[in-house]
Amino acid sequence: MPDLLSSPAVDIRNLTVRRGGREVLHDLSLTIPRGSITGLLGPSGCGKTTLMRCIVGTQIVASGEISALGLPAGAKQLRLRIGYVTQAPSIYNDISVRENVAYYAALYGRDRDATDTAITAVGLLEHEHQRGDELSGGQQTRASLACALVAQPDMLVLDEPTVGLDPVLRVDLWKQFKELAAGGTTLLVSSHVMDEAEHCDRLLLMRDGHLLAQLSPDELRTETGEQNLEHAFLSLITREGTRS
Ligand SMILES: Nc1ncnc2c1ncn2[C@@H]1O[C@H](COP(=O)(O)OP(=O)(O)OP(=O)(O)O)[C@@H](O)[C@H]1O
Ligand SMILES: [Mg+2]
Repeated sequence: MPDLLSSPAVDIRNLTVRRGGREVLHDLSLTIPRGSITGLLGPSGCGKTTLMRCIVGTQIVASGEISALGLPAGAKQLRLRIGYVTQAPSIYNDISVRENVAYYAALYGRDRDATDTAITAVGLLEHEHQRGDELSGGQQTRASLACALVAQPDMLVLDEPTVGLDPVLRVDLWKQFKELAAGGTTLLVSSHVMDEAEHCDRLLLMRDGHLLAQLSPDELRTETGEQNLEHAFLSLITREGTRS
């Protein structure tokens, strides 16, 4: 059986992707462990969304191999097992938050309790009767997240889920992510804010379509001699720059 719990949640070998006639991911190889939080970090345009699209199977790849939960990325059996929250909120505007979440709950065979839990988890209980188009940007982001959470997938791929959220809510969400990981869910969370790296068990650091490193926040500190993770990332970039 390829889907042994000891195998990584995601295994990528020599992945190359072209978009708009340009190579945007260059020969990436990486693994993502199960039951933990992996942060995908790097500046705008470095390829985070593209890499996530590859993992969930919505991106045409030029070459390379990608397996997710022991199956080829995009396999039909993965549809119910991997939740993907895109960078742009994707909820129905003409129905309420509760109806949006309940819709996904029904789709994935979850009950009313799961709907309540997901809405509470993203702090939208107070706004659950507002329609999608009556929410603020941050609330729309959170409603999208609730739609993914309610499915209780084995793996959650979240593209910049904390952008536009206030610090209190951010802390709450990271707490939720930690609880999910402790329960065995694999999380891949992108961000371009290095502060958020602190919440992750492991980091994938990207720049210009290249993977600079895959390591833990503590390993990044040790490797660079910088305590501040933002400085550590910059130090890594400078070092790579002088090598090439
Ligand atoms: N639809 C597209 N057609 C052509 N090129 C694209 C397309 N989408 C993205 N790109 C290019 O691919 C590269 C990687 O983009 P990607 O969206 O993966 O970056 P990102 O790290 O997610 O950035 P951000 O932090 O701004 O979301 C960029 O150079 C971008 O211009
Ligand atoms: Mg992106």
